Amino acid sequence: TDHPLVLFMPSGKRGRFPKGTTVLDAARQLGVYVESVCGGRATCGRCQIEVQEGHFAKHKITSSNAHISPVGPKEAQYAEKRELPAGRRLSCSATIEGDLVIDVPQDAVINAQVVRKDADNRVIERHPAVHLCYVEVPEPDMHKPLGDLDRLKAQLQKDWGYRRLEADFHILGDVQKILREGKWAVTAAIHHDEEEDAARIIALWPGLKNEAYGIACDIGSTTIAMHLVSLLSGRVVASAGASNPQIRFGEDLMSRVSYVMMNPDGRIAMTRAVRQEISKLIDKVTVESGVARTDILDAVFVANPIMHHLFLGIDPTELGGAPFALAVSGAVKAHAHDLRLGLNPGARLYVLPCIAGHVGADAAAVTLSEGPHRQDQMMLVVDVGTNAEIVLGNRKRLVAASSPTGPAFEGAEISSGQRAAPGAIERVRIDRQTLEPRFRVIGSELWSDEPGFKEAVAATGVTGICGSGIIEVIAEMYLSGIISEDGVIDGSLAARSSRIIGQGRTFSYLLHDGEPRITVTQNDVRAIQLAKAALYAGTKLLMEKQGVETVDAIRFAGAFGSFIDPTYAMVLGLIPDCELENVSAVGNAAGTGARMALLNRRYRREIEETVRKIEKIETALEPKFQEHFVHAMALPNKVDPYPKLAE
Ligand code: FES
Repeated sequence: TDHPLVLFMPSGKRGRFPKGTTVLDAARQLGVYVESVCGGRATCGRCQIEVQEGHFAKHKITSSNAHISPVGPKEAQYAEKRELPAGRRLSCSATIEGDLVIDVPQDAVINAQVVRKDADNRVIERHPAVHLCYVEVPEPDMHKPLGDLDRLKAQLQKDWGYRRLEADFHILGDVQKILREGKWAVTAAIHHDEEEDAARIIALWPGLKNEAYGIACDIGSTTIAMHLVSLLSGRVVASAGASNPQIRFGEDLMSRVSYVMMNPDGRIAMTRAVRQEISKLIDKVTVESGVARTDILDAVFVANPIMHHLFLGIDPTELGGAPFALAVSGAVKAHAHDLRLGLNPGARLYVLPCIAGHVGADAAAVTLSEGPHRQDQMMLVVDVGTNAEIVLGNRKRLVAASSPTGPAFEGAEISSGQRAAPGAIERVRIDRQTLEPRFRVIGSELWSDEPGFKEAVAATGVTGICGSGIIEVIAEMYLSGIISEDGVIDGSLAARSSRIIGQGRTFSYLLHDGEPRITVTQNDVRAIQLAKAALYAGTKLLMEKQGVETVDAIRFAGAFGSFIDPTYAMVLGLIPDCELENVSAVGNAAGTGARMALLNRRYRREIEETVRKIEKIETALEPKFQEHFVHAMALPNKVDPYPKLAE
């Protein structure tokens, strides 16, 4: 037929088009996002696609057959000047001549970074909220006294199909100069909010501007992590992190809230501190990549509710007690200059919605990244910090809660505990007979009983135990009978092993007899029992709401989760029984969710709709929380079985 079938990958969208339609037009009509800055003039090179080889619609398609038009003069000129990689075509020039499978290449780096789970081959499609549009504007005409900005707007609407288009106020001052500098050819950055169907010119450059950036930032209570991302290729061009300077006002969230309550200028000081640190991080990523601050046009932030409020300049006092009222729960859309972030004057800001008074935009970002709402299986997503934020559900229904785990999992409140850093014990094994330990520290590949271990750790020494190390040592102590089901260290073993040491009425386990001496005390075991009981009780409440006895998959988000061994987490009963192969650590999933929202405005809508539907459970108000908590103090649990663990 003269209406060949065209299939776009990876989206799978397809349609029939008259022969001679450009691939870019076909993509547009199907809603497949293909970047284009020059508007089809074969000059920006952003619209590259590949013809996929293989069988499709009864044809054998190879890159050389005639289902796509041969390279024309403009495309050849681009290929010569700018180097078009082998196999790539400019979709604005190449036309459809027969049935085709078109691959829209997604930058390899984004896929590595945004999609860690290569197993499910999920590919992030881009569709950023800020887009560059090149236009050639008619010169002024005395007989048609239409203003320069008005002609620019009219031309943008004509070439780029915007129904409603406005311009930011700050554009007015420069529009005439820029139009003349560019000899009536300019590139506009357009911010498009689909929901409001409002497009605005937010920045303007003379001539062809072919690069624009955005930042994705996760504001944690202890660390802030930032990525600088190309809005045109999706590539992460630089990343940086810093500790949250608000730590000097209070180690944990509640102490920062009380600081605000006690000090009249506390809120202002903390807002300033976090914004300054973010500004420093912007310096770092721009210097490292050579990108100008003014080329940053969009910024996405995620944070827990208290960090979220302090960053936005909102007093977090209401979050300090019931009913934990958020000033704003929906997504926040603003101008970056309102927060004085020092980006392009027109740069936009987007903050993901908060789920509840202590389940924040960071948990929303983790949800967006892991996507329980996109699948049928019952998925548990846990982000462990000082509070554990927990989301459980599937495409039909999602429930969420937070649980007060305290800082024990981060190594605080533990006698030899420390943050994960070189020198910290992270892996532990205990011989079931002799009760002798061996361990590994961060920064060395060797176990403590292997030759060369001393030399390997000479630089740092063995300094303490980090969160994952504590989980392992306590689980190993349990498995080797040093502690009982109720978490008591068995003093009678002191007769058998010099590792068991009496201290008053309780006993400790000597893990490393060095400088410092590293022991696991009865109090340490208690602290972990309390933390894990809180986490489990919260999870159990959500499972009851969902009416399920087990979960199909578990995702551990956050730094703690990325080092923890799922087997040990289950031995201790931090998480419910689950097929071990379905338990995985997903690293900084909150940062990933932020990048997704930066690169694709549809993800913004998706998470806004999802968060509205999530049912929030307030653990403090649930009568059964206490009961679940008490059962969960036992290892792994007093009442709930772990059949998968037995296997
Ligand atoms: Fe710019 Fe094709 S759209 S080169």
